[in-house]
Amino acid sequence: MEPEREKDWEIIFNPDAPKRKKRLPVPEPVDREIKIDSDKILMSVTDTRGVIEFCNEDFVEISGYEEYELVGSGHNIVRHPEMPRVLFKILWERIQNKQNILAIVKNMAKTGRYYWVYTDFVIKEDENGNIIGYKAFRKPAPKKAIETMIPIYKKLKAIEEENDMEFAQKYLEGYLDNLGTTYDEFVENLIIENVDHKGEKLQDSTNNNNKEKLQSKKERKSFFKRIFGY
Ligand SMILES: Cc1cc2nc3c(=O)[nH]c(=O)nc-3n(C[C@H](O)[C@H](O)[C@H](O)COP(=O)(O)O)c2cc1C
Repeated sequence: MEPEREKDWEIIFNPDAPKRKKRLPVPEPVDREIKIDSDKILMSVTDTRGVIEFCNEDFVEISGYEEYELVGSGHNIVRHPEMPRVLFKILWERIQNKQNILAIVKNMAKTGRYYWVYTDFVIKEDENGNIIGYKAFRKPAPKKAIETMIPIYKKLKAIEEENDMEFAQKYLEGYLDNLGTTYDEFVENLIIENVDHKGEKLQDSTNNNNKEKLQSKKERKSFFKRIFGY
């Protein structure tokens, strides 16, 4: 029992344990894409602060970092400077409220080269419902989805630079409202309509004639769960 108690004490009184690594040098962005095979799944697991605890082979390979460099680093190790900050603000608000988000993200490898993925999250909870970490699954974003997101993210970034992140969030909300959609629905449609999954169009097997269920965030299974089964 003793070690258990000690561990609890550490979690309550020292939320920074275990230590987060000092940030590795941030590479200069290189304007060259890393193409990711469609059968790859880039997976990572973090603690509640977004410090990487585990990542799979595909993630390590594409990131260009060694596994030991990734583990213990903040997930911003793969952050691309062109990504608008507001996207991460929304992402963190969602996952800290135990809600998923389906996002399209431009990441940067150790070489400075970039890769686009779509990603969604699994919230890790203990038996009392406390969040103990997060898991993210990523697959290569379809070309059309990337082409659609580039001008939107550019605009958001420009607004952040000229005004601030709140303005960027208002702009994004207005833009999506105007289209009568939400960020997740917008992204999901871009993926479903443009990804060829082993020669067949992606199909959501769980929701074909149950639109209401789809609308309900609580009941809605994660995109990866519905489409790929995890
Ligand atoms: C499970 C999980 C996965 C994440 N994956 C990414 C990712 O692939 N790329 C990224 O830039 N940020 C990712 N983030 C968000 C980062 O933690 C961070 O908020 C973001 O890179 C912005 O960094 P900054 O605050 O230093 O600008 C992830 C966070 C979590 C919890």
